[in-house]
Amino acid sequence: MTQEEKYNIERHDLSIDRSLRAWSAADEYLLQAFIALEKKPDHFGIYNDRFGFLGCHLHEFNPTVILSQKSQEKAILANSKAHNIPLPNFSNPLSPLENKLDFALIKMPKSLALFQLFLEQIVHNSTENISVTCAFMTRHFSPKILQIAQEYFEVVEQSKALKKARLLVLTKKKNTVKKEMIVPINYKDQVYKQYWGVFSAEHIDYATQFFLEHLEIKETDHHILDLAAGNGIIANEIFKKLPGAEIHVMDDAYLAVASAKLNIQGENIHHHFNNNLSIFDDDTFDLIVTNPPFHFEYEINIQITLQLFKACFRCLKAGGSLQLVANKHLNYKVHLERLFSSVQHIAENRKFVVYKCVK
Ligand SMILES: C[S@@+](CC[C@H](N)C(=O)[O-])C[C@H]1O[C@@H](n2cnc3c(N)ncnc32)[C@H](O)[C@@H]1O
Repeated sequence: MTQEEKYNIERHDLSIDRSLRAWSAADEYLLQAFIALEKKPDHFGIYNDRFGFLGCHLHEFNPTVILSQKSQEKAILANSKAHNIPLPNFSNPLSPLENKLDFALIKMPKSLALFQLFLEQIVHNSTENISVTCAFMTRHFSPKILQIAQEYFEVVEQSKALKKARLLVLTKKKNTVKKEMIVPINYKDQVYKQYWGVFSAEHIDYATQFFLEHLEIKETDHHILDLAAGNGIIANEIFKKLPGAEIHVMDDAYLAVASAKLNIQGENIHHHFNNNLSIFDDDTFDLIVTNPPFHFEYEINIQITLQLFKACFRCLKAGGSLQLVANKHLNYKVHLERLFSSVQHIAENRKFVVYKCVK
């Protein structure tokens, strides 16, 4: 830890591997850049602060933390509580911000569409002389980052590298027209909509498509959960076949939930911005469907997925099924067999496998 780093920030929820850190050299570079500012901003925003490293260290400057995930919010709450730090103001990437920003820090997200969405919010919720400092690990650099930044700012300057991280300082914002930030995704006869930065932005995910071709649904499936639902496509395809069912649609990403709300609505449809199943009682669902996450930014991590499977088992009724699609190499079968008495491959191709697990 450097001198400025007072708080030991923990990776809440995402991993039990204690060797993984809750921040990187890019976060440290952002912290230093803020501390070096001669005049501190009146209103500043922090984007993509995964576990609260920046929000906690800069709490006395009263930041607005723009939350992309529920798990991020929970981690920031836990880290703030552990260090007796007051909570930051929270906002989300779509709502107008309460105060116009005169400064923003962005830890570069893996999704550059999400980076663009952040800039879109910043330029339309800021003072004329806003300046934005972004940081990324040099190995994650792409010229597209500069291209996007230049769409919104006249001046885009790169710093020298420090511990393999680099800053990008954006000043002189351009006068841009507000964009809708939604992309269409075609599937069969329907156009799904999703916000920039939501999973599988260009076309339906191939695993999801394969899953939809093989999913087994029954007339008697009344209570259904689409877990890690993204834009809600799986839930909506089921809803078309079972319009009377009660369907819960859950995702950890704010923009995924907002997208799902554009695609599936109804009296019996319930949207949840959440990252676990603790809100559901035991024995609730007849069917849980999922194309579960295993990528978290640049990290591949199946621990979260395995915890979700365990929770699915608890929340299924006896005789209910968990159906999921996965990349074959993840080899979930061994884990699923520890929980479920029956785990069948109901379909498989070169890349993906669809499992049906009955409780
Ligand atoms: C592989 S994508 C699937 C999206 C969608 N179901 C589809 O098939 O297009 C995985 C999704 O899991 C979400 N996610 C990640 N961690 C989660 C968690 N702990 N709980 C719920 N959703 C989560 C991500 O935001 C992402 O939308």
